[in-house]
Amino acid sequence: MDHSPSPDAPILFFDSGLGGLTVLGPTRALLPTAPIVYAADYAGLPYGQKSDVELAARVPALLGRLVERYQPRLAVIACNTASTIALAHVRAALDLPIVGTVPAIKPAAEMTRTGVIGVLGTEATVRQRYVDDLGAKFAGDKTVLRHGSPGLVTGAEAKLRGEPVDPAAIERAVAGLRDQPGGDALDVVVLACTHFPLLEDELRTAFGPDVALIDGAAGIARRIAYLTEGQAWPATAPPGIAVFTRSDDRPPPPLAALAPYGLGSIETI
Ligand code: DGL
Repeated sequence: MDHSPSPDAPILFFDSGLGGLTVLGPTRALLPTAPIVYAADYAGLPYGQKSDVELAARVPALLGRLVERYQPRLAVIACNTASTIALAHVRAALDLPIVGTVPAIKPAAEMTRTGVIGVLGTEATVRQRYVDDLGAKFAGDKTVLRHGSPGLVTGAEAKLRGEPVDPAAIERAVAGLRDQPGGDALDVVVLACTHFPLLEDELRTAFGPDVALIDGAAGIARRIAYLTEGQAWPATAPPGIAVFTRSDDRPPPPLAALAPYGLGSIETI
């Protein structure tokens, strides 16, 4: 029996909001005609302030509904918070390949010259045991400073909608790392939330030229290409679908903000 997916079977990207677009971008560069469904849990945003118990239940349940509705060939949890908390639960619950997003501590440890790296994520991500383990495994001889910044999630959502970003949120995030003991020697910062690369210019200016910013998006894109190698794709890229969980407080963004990512329509679930 042939198990290879139909050319029209999409890749499903999942995040609490628009941060996962920073993973979708490099994936489209590698797989330009891949059908895409981009799902954002606006009814649950921000994940960074939810409990582990809540996310461990919410993320697999929602992904289950999305998989049933869109029948993807592969799902990408394009969210560090959801991945560090719920990846194992999702893999146990669903019968398709699942790619997660975890803080790029390994490349940061290889890159630092001062031996001090920062991990900037959500509050939920930076407190995870998963991050302790990555630090112990790949950066045991380095100083790993962590800071959780909900303000950057809000800022990234605003920027993508074309709204102003509060400069105080950027300053607070930078100070959150710099003001810790050892923080003045920081030379690499891991953007451990998929929203944060949307604010890369602002963060680069605020950290200054001596600090490199890294994230895992390019590596995730390569992993997706590897896992789908040899599969059939449409000859031309079909318009992608953006799907948002229904929220009275937070309507979906204008389609024009999503169009640069190849998304051509908006649905709600
Ligand atoms: N984009 C998400 C992450 O990578 C989470 C943002 C949030 O919902 O707090 O961690």
